[in-house]
Amino acid sequence: MLERIKTTADYLSNQTELKPLVGIILGTGLGGLVSEIDIKQSISYEEIPDFPVSTVEGHSGRLIFGTINNIPVLAMQGRFHYYEGYSMQEVTFPVRVMKQMGIETLIVSNASGGLNPDYVVGDIMVINDHINMFGDNPLIGKNMNELGPRFPDMSEPYNNALIAKAMEIGRENDIDLKQGVYVGTTGPTFETPAEYKMFRVLGADAVGMSTVPEVIVARHMDMNCFGISIITDSGVPGQIVEVSHEEVQEVAATAEPKMTKVIKELVSRI
Ligand code: HPA
Repeated sequence: MLERIKTTADYLSNQTELKPLVGIILGTGLGGLVSEIDIKQSISYEEIPDFPVSTVEGHSGRLIFGTINNIPVLAMQGRFHYYEGYSMQEVTFPVRVMKQMGIETLIVSNASGGLNPDYVVGDIMVINDHINMFGDNPLIGKNMNELGPRFPDMSEPYNNALIAKAMEIGRENDIDLKQGVYVGTTGPTFETPAEYKMFRVLGADAVGMSTVPEVIVARHMDMNCFGISIITDSGVPGQIVEVSHEEVQEVAATAEPKMTKVIKELVSRI
């Protein structure tokens, strides 16, 4: 695995002069940030040795090298989901490659179902903590001591300084940012009403099918993480209606400009 990480990182580093400082994972319907990147190089996942290939509609699968306000970034347009059948190691492989390339900060975005009754569809939530309900963990197995410790600390999964900066950006730009706990679950089913209720009781504000594995692996390697989620549907009792992937994509696309603004500003202030 270590060899694979190094081989892929070397391959990518050889494709471009750019030395990215920030890694960005763009979730469902949130690929529009790409238009804010001054693109230097774009590589399809299929071209990258050892890279998994994304299968879900709405995840186009490209690595984008470029700059945002002159800050060098590497953006993943499309991520790998556990529900697609990838192992936790495959889902998180790109994050390990990012770290190997010298990236110290990870920004992740996603779409989620709202559990907090104060949220409405289209809201943007800065993730301040998470609950792992995947029933799996990417760090199970022999620990790679070169990457991080056997028992990684998770007391600050999402970097407090980055959260504070994002909230400041929200205030300055009149963007209402919620802050809350994201619970990650395997999917691919959306939740039953009883499951939404359970996740609320457990202490979560939003539920989704990604992000948790990537952040675990990033924290293992001591990367600073920032997560942001668009509430695309409601899991609040009394407000639950039928939900489809298309609707999730649509709402995400509508709320995206605000999220893009926050990420763009945040990158400049890291
Ligand atoms: N549940 C799980 N994942 C999601 C949801 C949801 O309601 N909305 C978007 N991703």
